[in-house]
Amino acid sequence: MRKILVDKVKEGMVLGRTLYSSEGNVLLNAGIILKSSYIAKFKDLGIREVYVEDEISRDIVLKDVITEETRFEARVNIKNAMDSIRYGNSLDVKPIRDSVCKMIDELMDVKDTMVNLQDLKSNDQYTFSHSVNVCVLSLITGISMKYDEEKLKEIGIGAMLHDVGKIKIPQEILNKPGSLTKKEFDIVKKHTSYGYELLKKSKMLSTYASYIALTHHERFDGEGYPLGLRGEEIHEFARIVSVADVYDAITSDRIYKKRININEAVEYLIGMGGHQFDYNIVRNFIEHITIYPPGTCVLLNNGEKAIVVDVNKKYPNRPIIRILMDKEGQIPKEPVEIDLTKNNTLLISDIIDDI
Ligand SMILES: [Fe+2]
Repeated sequence: MRKILVDKVKEGMVLGRTLYSSEGNVLLNAGIILKSSYIAKFKDLGIREVYVEDEISRDIVLKDVITEETRFEARVNIKNAMDSIRYGNSLDVKPIRDSVCKMIDELMDVKDTMVNLQDLKSNDQYTFSHSVNVCVLSLITGISMKYDEEKLKEIGIGAMLHDVGKIKIPQEILNKPGSLTKKEFDIVKKHTSYGYELLKKSKMLSTYASYIALTHHERFDGEGYPLGLRGEEIHEFARIVSVADVYDAITSDRIYKKRININEAVEYLIGMGGHQFDYNIVRNFIEHITIYPPGTCVLLNNGEKAIVVDVNKKYPNRPIIRILMDKEGQIPKEPVEIDLTKNNTLLISDIIDDI
């Protein structure tokens, strides 16, 4: 199985994972053979990527760090929480806390967790999917920093709710294609204080959650907002959530910008370590990121094109690959698999959308 852009989906490919609407209804079941009418519908619905089983990815296994069920439930729970606040009801924290506890249990079960986030973000679900991803990434960083369960719960709940203030920002600004004017950006910035105000009211939440909502856009070098805090003036929880938030945002396609590849995102975080981010947190964070997840199409330094079949945890830049196209553009007659840890001359030079 592999995740591909809807633009690259061809008739006859098999849907690898069931597609759900943001309400949790099944849109299309896994296993269905894709027709051109379905592909057109994906585009109408703002779905940009899908999982497919095709000739080149048939036996590739994609493993998420949390189960599909837990991810799905968490997304519904954060959606319900934001909806209930939007309609003026009080926040029921229990479903959020339950989801966070499930994620912690699942993440603690795996030794050496390597993140390969298996998620699809359509426009209408972006904030919910993003909240769950930021939570998973923050928890993994917390685990890597030897947090106990209590601290993990605090940061997890705060991460899930970090963008809750966005319910007060007009959708046309949040989903505006193209860059924001200064005035619009000033409005977006307010989601931090709105989130703080909303969460502060809840007696079921500790102060960490409202604090994370308020300070997740502060920067280590003092250049962030809304308070311009710097370094350790920013609580460690917020410093972690801020790395997770930026990483997930830049590796996601949005209406106003195309995502960057995981390898580039990791480079960006390292480059920003000590400036925008706490370097120690970046170090703990990137240790658990799978740079070339299975199913990724890559270009090699000798001009061949390949697909990643499996990862080598100790050598993130050197996964096991299968050659799909040789230098002359020919498809090999027999599948050739290469473990890049055993071949010193071959390197991955780029990630490509498809072959
Ligand atoms: Fe935010």
